[in-house]
Amino acid sequence: MANHYFLGVLLLALLFICSAENPESTADNGYPPLWDLVPESLENFTKENKVEMDPWRYFDRMAMYRILLASTTKYFSILGSNNSGNILWGLPLQHGWQFHTGRLADPSKTTICGFKDREDPLCISEKSWWACMNYYLSVIPFLSAAAVGMFADLPPQPLEIVPPGQNTEDFCYSIDHCQSSFPDVMDKWKQFFQYLKSSNIPPDSIANGMFSPELDEVLHYMWMAHEASIAVANPKCQKRLSYLSDPEQYFDKSWATTVEYIAATHFLTDFQNSNNFQHFLPPRVLNRGDSPPVILDFSPEENRALFTINNIYTINSNTRGVILKQWKKAMCSEKGRLEGRRLMQNLFTNLPLAGWNILEIFVQFIINQKCPVKD
Ligand SMILES: *[C@@H]1O[C@H](CO)[C@@H](O)[C@H](O)[C@H]1NC(C)=O
Ligand SMILES: *[C@@H]1O[C@H](CO)[C@@H](O)[C@H](O)[C@H]1NC(C)=O
Repeated sequence: MANHYFLGVLLLALLFICSAENPESTADNGYPPLWDLVPESLENFTKENKVEMDPWRYFDRMAMYRILLASTTKYFSILGSNNSGNILWGLPLQHGWQFHTGRLADPSKTTICGFKDREDPLCISEKSWWACMNYYLSVIPFLSAAAVGMFADLPPQPLEIVPPGQNTEDFCYSIDHCQSSFPDVMDKWKQFFQYLKSSNIPPDSIANGMFSPELDEVLHYMWMAHEASIAVANPKCQKRLSYLSDPEQYFDKSWATTVEYIAATHFLTDFQNSNNFQHFLPPRVLNRGDSPPVILDFSPEENRALFTINNIYTINSNTRGVILKQWKKAMCSEKGRLEGRRLMQNLFTNLPLAGWNILEIFVQFIINQKCPVKD
């Protein structure tokens, strides 16, 4: 019975993705906004008695990513030139999207923080739900990486993170403080970086979309840490949803859920894939009355992407997460994950193939019945 339901949901997904066209390629060069101006070294933040970074400033938060990317270049060089194969690209690209779509600005609109047409466009608002969620996907991985010695040029001074003006209890501000406040998340990110250091991703790690066991394992550790970050961030950030319109709130909750589905596929978050995938996410904060798939100033693909993401959440909550468990079961084998990744990509870019993916996923779901799935 449950199996039939799962197939039904997958076929339903197919129905509304059938009517789409292929997207145009991106006009911009794919880098996060102002990327070339972002400091790329810890030296830029070193003072006499400390290294100080302010994650409530766009350049400082992005610098964490730039430093992380630079310090992990060598582990991914086999996957592409110019660090394009680095799987950490997903994080700064996602943060860049948050920035340029206005999601990091003060949602209560009581300050000028983060508004492009005001005096302080590079400010990141402590009241922004996205900024809060992203804290656990920027500061936490950054400090974890520092803790396990990923930064060869880490100065001897202590690393200090500047607290926001309010709600300081929602975050942590140093390696020790984060370790004691959020041990599980810190440990999982540390595990990822430690595994990365010992890993040796072989050439031809991606053959027809299938990953080598080594690359698969690196992705497994990264997504495990990513999920742990979201699990901790959700309750800490939740009160910030109340500043947002109903459609934006619904999308935000839906996105947090959709990421769990993406994580289970071990989605490859390198430069190109991340760009392709987030290309159709909502280009602005949603307003009251915005109702996908008929938001007039959104392209058909943007409308469909939002509609799909919202429906993943709706179906997931209506089935109390049973669908997610079944999805995870289908994603238990590399073949299943391959089809899952293809579906995720094809949902927005190559639709005729999505139907085939869906059938393959169902086959894998049946084959993987015995696979243990944790919550
Ligand atoms: C960072 O520091 C380096 C070396 O001191 C300097 O050349 C560079 O201009 C600084 N970058 C920024 C964005 O401040
Ligand atoms: C290499 O990466 C940098 C940013 O990290 C970018 O500015 C530059 O354009 C890239 N070069 C090529 C050839 O893609």
